[in-house]
Amino acid sequence: MKDFKGKIAFITGGGSGAALGQAKVFAKAGMRVAIADVRRDALHNAVSEIVDYAGCKVADVLPLCFDLTDRKAYTAAADTVEKVFGGPPHLLIQTAGVNSFGPVESSTFDDYDWVMGVCLDHVVNGLVIFVPRMIKAYGGTDGVPKEEFHVVTTSSMGAMIKGPTTGPYSAAKAAVNNLMYSYAESLKPYGASATVLCPYNINSNIGDAEIYRPENLRNTGHHVSEGVLASLRALYSHGINPIELAEILKEGIESGRILVLPFRDVNIGLRLVHEANEEIEWYMMTAEECRKKQEERKADKTRYVPRFDDDPNPNARPEGAEPFGLARKDLDYVAPHKRSQN
Ligand code: NAI
Repeated sequence: MKDFKGKIAFITGGGSGAALGQAKVFAKAGMRVAIADVRRDALHNAVSEIVDYAGCKVADVLPLCFDLTDRKAYTAAADTVEKVFGGPPHLLIQTAGVNSFGPVESSTFDDYDWVMGVCLDHVVNGLVIFVPRMIKAYGGTDGVPKEEFHVVTTSSMGAMIKGPTTGPYSAAKAAVNNLMYSYAESLKPYGASATVLCPYNINSNIGDAEIYRPENLRNTGHHVSEGVLASLRALYSHGINPIELAEILKEGIESGRILVLPFRDVNIGLRLVHEANEEIEWYMMTAEECRKKQEERKADKTRYVPRFDDDPNPNARPEGAEPFGLARKDLDYVAPHKRSQN
């Protein structure tokens, strides 16, 4: 997809972070943008930020407040977009996401349902609700569309690297990567494609996601406290700026890239994929060989990016901050060093 002017975008999670950056950048490129988010206040602020950044009209930004895991509400929102903007999106960007850190053996049904619900089910909902509408409205034959259209999901490097403290999240992200590869191939005859964006760290508000976790999914096995949230905020403050991230995504869509690893130096992305694939190869080795390889890798200072679960610099934590990725103190079946002491 190369021409965005006058076209329609539907961006999930548009109230904050990466999705808000995407809404700004694609509105500036001349698109009318629908932004979907569960937080009404965030949506309200997002509309004025988008209008200011893009210099567009308020009427070109359509805020839709609903829970993206609610299929009925999502279908109603899709109908609203068609009614207000005159058609389904040309560009569907599925970016909403949440995370909760804790040893995977401590994760509860609520942890799985919340994290996989937002990170995987919402993506499935968007694909099932929108893709048929997009094909009917804009799909062509023999690889030439009537009008250009494209599907994007914001995944994570977590899709490719193992996540002992992000099990549900990494599983959901690995699933969406694979799904997007399927859609990229399947949409070819209609003249469209798909892109999956895998950032490593974004300067966003995802560290606060536990605060608005739905009431009915709050039975977590993970240790969550003000101190944990402070650590996460500090961690994400070092991430890529959402506007820069959205510009990299835009270039990826224009160039028809199916997988976008948003590093300024593409070699960093290539190295990370290579390292992740190597680790999968080690899983085929004997336990002893595999352990040796993993230890060598951990000690290897030439690794490009430290893993989240390494907690590389505990001394850099802000005051009052606690380590993240621990289980609740009372889960006494979890190994003591993986449990919170507080
Ligand atoms: P963010 O927290 O700033 O924005 C996420 C938005 O999604 C929020 O406005 C939130 O209200 C919304 N949301 C959450 N659950 C929802 C639901 N059920 N229905 C409707 N809206 C919902 O987070 P961020 O970092 O911008 O996250 C965007 C995407 O980037 C996510 O998919 C995340 O997994 C991914 N990502 C984030 C990284 C990071 O370092 N922050 C790294 C790699 C990927």
